[in-house]
Amino acid sequence: MHESAGYSGSAALSVDQAPPILVPFRFFLTAPLFGTFAALLLLFLGPAAWASRWSAGILAATHLMALGFLTMVMMGALLQMLPVVAGAPVARAHQVSALVHPMLVMGTLALAWDFLSGGTRVMAAALALLGSAFIVFIAAITASLLRARAAAATVRGMRLSVAALPLTVVLGMSLAVIRTWHVALPFATLVTLHLAWGLGGWVGLLVIGVGIQVVPMFQTTPPYPRIVAENLTPMIFSALLGWSLLRVLAGHAAPDSAGAFIFLAALGYALYAVITLALQRRKRRRIPDITVRFWRTGMVSLLACALCGLSVLWPGGRSPMPIQLTWGILAIVGFGVSVVSGMLYKIVPFLVWLHLSARPDGRGRLSNMKQIISVRHANIQFWLHLASILLLCGAALAPGWLARPAAAVFACLNLLLGLNLAGAWRLYRGLVSGSARS
Ligand code: HEM
Repeated sequence: MHESAGYSGSAALSVDQAPPILVPFRFFLTAPLFGTFAALLLLFLGPAAWASRWSAGILAATHLMALGFLTMVMMGALLQMLPVVAGAPVARAHQVSALVHPMLVMGTLALAWDFLSGGTRVMAAALALLGSAFIVFIAAITASLLRARAAAATVRGMRLSVAALPLTVVLGMSLAVIRTWHVALPFATLVTLHLAWGLGGWVGLLVIGVGIQVVPMFQTTPPYPRIVAENLTPMIFSALLGWSLLRVLAGHAAPDSAGAFIFLAALGYALYAVITLALQRRKRRRIPDITVRFWRTGMVSLLACALCGLSVLWPGGRSPMPIQLTWGILAIVGFGVSVVSGMLYKIVPFLVWLHLSARPDGRGRLSNMKQIISVRHANIQFWLHLASILLLCGAALAPGWLARPAAAVFACLNLLLGLNLAGAWRLYRGLVSGSARS
């Protein structure tokens, strides 16, 4: 019944063309390190960082998470998933990942350092490294997406997300140039556009596009209604585009019509969150699942974010600073980190299993995929994650009390995520060298 009413995507995944395991893994294993850096930074700076979303500490932590965690995993996942989900392998994926990964790592660290040091010459290096990383990545992924044939709605979501990435990057780089070399451009408008295309476009559209295919598959839910699967990402993208054009052409003089576009985008996200939560309630397997828990947290945060996002319609146009900070935490940690962590707990064991199966006797040494990451450790990490979202939101409201406890818990959950993923990698390496010897 579900199949006829809904969008089932391409359930038949082809695995023959998957890239070498190190291609996605180098990105996946690095992300928790950046999460730990962000947490340690907030721990070191304490309540002072929380005075404003423009403080050096918050800007650095935002980018350690947005680039070092979210973008890091999303790049690895795209390189891995394009051949499998869309039937369009990325040409020279190994070389692309070996080139992009170190540039993203160093560029992100340099950008964060520049924010913290109040603007130095490091910004030029950050821009060169990040600019090069994104040019190589976007060119490689675009070439593959243009060839993609399978799973129309997912590929469309990926295409729109990847179209949002250069916009985000160009806007971010323009902001950096304005900040560092004092160029006369409308900073406030560009920040809002950069933030919206980064979180609402690049991150949000990829999650929806991929989620439409993998939520039913990995979480054993019924498929998304076809009308939602086909139209949601184009609707949100068009709303962001309409709003951006109005902001660029009319600046702050067009708040009413711009508000209508923001409303439409927020509505699209709220709809996706509500439908996903409803589908999860109807999942076929009743056993508690770590990915479902993370996604549920992500969807509740997304819903809160969409409602909170409507606070741009707040009288006077700006909501109070603690609300703005809470919105950022819900968007980056509550939504982005939750969904990405949930995916990692599915993809990483699956990839280890898949690549072992390609080796003689490799998989025979594993009786169960659950051996790859301990369910207990994953669950502990989930509860720490949930506590950290609440504590970080609390820190936005009462930094004097909660800034350091929130940062400490955030550091622990990132370390544990890192250990869980590194354990899977060690297991893989051990089994591979074991089967090579025997
Ligand atoms: C080449 C990459 C990037 C560069 C050079 C860059 C640079 C910047 C700069 C200079 C600012 C303004 C800082 C200030 O107010 O002084 C900013 C703000 C921001 N960026 Fe980026 N960015 C990049 C990528 C990203 C990405 C990929 C995301 C999200 C996924 C992102 C999310 C944000 C957010 C949320 C803010 C606003 C912070 C706030 O309003 O509190 N950035 N970025």
